[in-house]
Amino acid sequence: MSEQPLGTLSAEDLTTLYTQYQSKQLALDLTRGKPSAKQLSLADRIDGILDGNYLTSGTDTRNYGGLEGIAEIKPLGSWLLDTPESAVIAGGNSSLTMMYQTVLFQKLFNPAWQGDISFLCPTPGYDRHFSICEELGINMVPVPFRAGGPDMDAVEALVANDTSIKGIWCVPKYQNPTGVTFDDATVKRIANLGNLAGDGFIVLWDNAYAVHHLDNNRPDVLADFWALSEAAGTLDSAFLFASTSKISHAGSGVAFMACSESQRAFFLKHLGMSAIGPDKVGQLRHVALFPTKSALANHMALHAELIKPRMEMVVNKLDQHLNSGEQGEWTRPNGGYFVTFYAPEGTATKIVALAAELGVKLTPAGATHPYGNDESDSVIRLAPSFPTIAELDEAMDAFCLCVAIATAK
Ligand SMILES: Cc1ncc(COP(=O)(O)O)c(C=O)c1O
Repeated sequence: MSEQPLGTLSAEDLTTLYTQYQSKQLALDLTRGKPSAKQLSLADRIDGILDGNYLTSGTDTRNYGGLEGIAEIKPLGSWLLDTPESAVIAGGNSSLTMMYQTVLFQKLFNPAWQGDISFLCPTPGYDRHFSICEELGINMVPVPFRAGGPDMDAVEALVANDTSIKGIWCVPKYQNPTGVTFDDATVKRIANLGNLAGDGFIVLWDNAYAVHHLDNNRPDVLADFWALSEAAGTLDSAFLFASTSKISHAGSGVAFMACSESQRAFFLKHLGMSAIGPDKVGQLRHVALFPTKSALANHMALHAELIKPRMEMVVNKLDQHLNSGEQGEWTRPNGGYFVTFYAPEGTATKIVALAAELGVKLTPAGATHPYGNDESDSVIRLAPSFPTIAELDEAMDAFCLCVAIATAK
C-alpha cells in the first residue's frame, strides 16, 4: 500500500493500485460481528467443569423445570444487567430470543398494543432489532444517533405526540454499530420516557456489550438505568437484556433479562406456555466458570487482548490513509465489536461494491438502518473481531483504497 495518504494520490495512481489489488484475488470478510476461534477458546475449560456435580442446593439441573433459571446464576445476570438479582430471569443461549419474546408477548397479549404500533429506532442501529419489528409488523421510526446516544429532543417529542409509539431500541454501551456509550443525561431522559408516552410503552435496553471494554482500566461507565427508572416511577417500562454470547461460547451461553415484578409475572406466564425450563446445566457451568465478578473481569481482559489490536488497527488504518472530513468520518470506540465509518453522502453503496470487486466483503450499505434504508447512503459498519490480524491489515488497506476511489473528485 502507498506510504502517502490516499487522498494525495492522483486518480491514475489510485486506479493502478486498485488494479494491483484486483490481481491479489483477496477473500476477506469484515461483516461478521462474532468472536474469533481464539476468543471462544478462552472459555474451553467450561467443557467438563462440573465433573458430574449437577446439583445445586435446591435443584437437579439435569431435570425439567426452573423457568426463570437457577438461583446461582442470578449474580452473573445482575453484574451484566446492573440490576438487583431478584429482577433477573436467566434463559437459554440468546438474549435476542428474549427480546423477540418480550415484543411478541406484548403484541399478542397487551391490550394497549392493539392496532397500528410503532417503535423508535436510534439509527444507525442493530439490524436484528429492526428485523424483529419488521417480522411482527411494527412500524419503525428512525431517530438520529448523536455523540451521547439517541437525539433525545427528537425522541421525547415523538413519544409525547404519538401514543402509537410503544417502544424504543437501545444498545446503551459500546453501541452496535457506533461503539458509542450513552451519556448520563441521555440515560436519565430515557428512563423518564414512560412518563411521557402512552400506555404500554417499553424501553428495550440491550446491554450486549456491558463488560466488553478494550481496556479494563479505562472502561466507559454507563449510568444506572434500573435505579433511574425506579426513581422516575417507570420500572414497568424497563426491559434490560444481556448474555454471555461474547464472553464464553456464543452458541451455548446464557442470556439474561430483567424487568419489574408485574412485567416479570406477565413474561413468565406466557413463556411457560412454550417452555418448561432453560438449559440449567449450561447455567451451572457458567456459575463454575465465573464464580466472582473479578473472575469475569479477568476473563474479559483476555478477550480485550485479542480484540483491542483489531479495533486499533481499523482506526489506525483509517487515520493513516484517509483525510477525516473530506473522505469520511469514523468512530473510536473504547469497547464492543464495531467501528462505524460515515462515508461522504451518496458513496457507501459504491464503496461496498468496489470492495466486493476486490474480494473484501462488507456489511451491505443500509443494513444499519430500518428497512435497510440509509437515505444518506453513508453508513458502513466495520467488524474486525473475526479475521486474523494479517487478514484485517489487508482488508483495511483495500477498504481505504475503495473509499479514496469512491470519494475522489
Ligand atoms: C446489540 C446486540 N444485541 C444482541 C446480540 C445477540 O445477542 P445474543 O447472542 O445474546 O442473542 C448482538 C450480537 O451481535 C448484538 O450486537
